[in-house]
Amino acid sequence: MQQLGTLEDLPESYRNELTEQNLVPLWPNMRAVLPPKVPSRKTRTLCWDYSRVRPLLLQAGELTPMEKAERRVLVLANPGHGLNNMQATPSIYMGLQLILPGETAPNHRHTPNAVRIIIEGEGAYTTVNGEPCKMERGDLILTPSGKWHEHQHEGQGPIVWLDVLDLPLIYQLEGSWAMEGKPQEKILSRDKSFADYSAAGVVPSINFRRGETDSPMLRYPWGKTRSCLVEMAEHYQEGLLQVSYVNPETGASLFPSIGFGALMLRPGETIALPKRTTACVFHVVEGHGELSVDGSSVVAWNEKDTLSAPGYSDIVLRNRSADKPVFMIIADEAPLHRYLGIF
Ligand SMILES: [Fe+2]
Repeated sequence: MQQLGTLEDLPESYRNELTEQNLVPLWPNMRAVLPPKVPSRKTRTLCWDYSRVRPLLLQAGELTPMEKAERRVLVLANPGHGLNNMQATPSIYMGLQLILPGETAPNHRHTPNAVRIIIEGEGAYTTVNGEPCKMERGDLILTPSGKWHEHQHEGQGPIVWLDVLDLPLIYQLEGSWAMEGKPQEKILSRDKSFADYSAAGVVPSINFRRGETDSPMLRYPWGKTRSCLVEMAEHYQEGLLQVSYVNPETGASLFPSIGFGALMLRPGETIALPKRTTACVFHVVEGHGELSVDGSSVVAWNEKDTLSAPGYSDIVLRNRSADKPVFMIIADEAPLHRYLGIF
């Protein structure tokens, strides 16, 4: 590839005049924004070790009352993007949120889409537009763009979950804002996933109405996802065991920005994920193992840990246990890449 001229090749007086008129020459920067064949990636491969983060999160519970936090969250910031930018990947924000017994994270809504993945604790629920969603280990709870949501904890001990939002993307688009609201009135006794979408291809005959929004199902119980993967493992003796979370009425991804999935590693299994353009994050629901990216950076992980990896890379996951499976929830920017035609 041809070497292009640098900024230093230009006379200082010329450069100053360009700056004065808010102009920038493209050629000194062109290779940086259009590198040959592989994009430059800021997303670093890393693991947020839950056993080390948890004490700090509980300390936040002592240091900062809910009234002073509104959302008590430690953000999982990928240093490759700059810690203050609060990005796990270019489009994905992740944070670990803590609620203590009796606390409520007050009602609000915002433009970014959010999913929470429950890590520990029982007895909490998220109310989304009047629909109370029980929060159990490994469940996905959706609070899509614009929907009111509040979190209440009526159980014992702390509850912790992983928030996954498309906040960096919406923020970059200068579209990120929030609004506070009064506590919600519940219009259902339970989430619709409890009955309406509890079995694939089957819905109640009476009183069932198709969702009026792109997210008719707000809670994806972990138990159902897990048993689907276990069924697949019994059926397929080899090959990747992976499922996608979709809108049960249309089969579309949960959000246009971030896609979610779950995967299982058989005991002792090592798998190479299909090579893809998008960066991704992993949350370990069960098991322990290793992540290797491009054969070099090898990261060990345990249950409840969360990981990130860049796109355009060879990702290999290894289950270190000889007798127990691994289960992970993954999120990536594939829906957006597909929409943009860069997947
Ligand atoms: Fe929120």
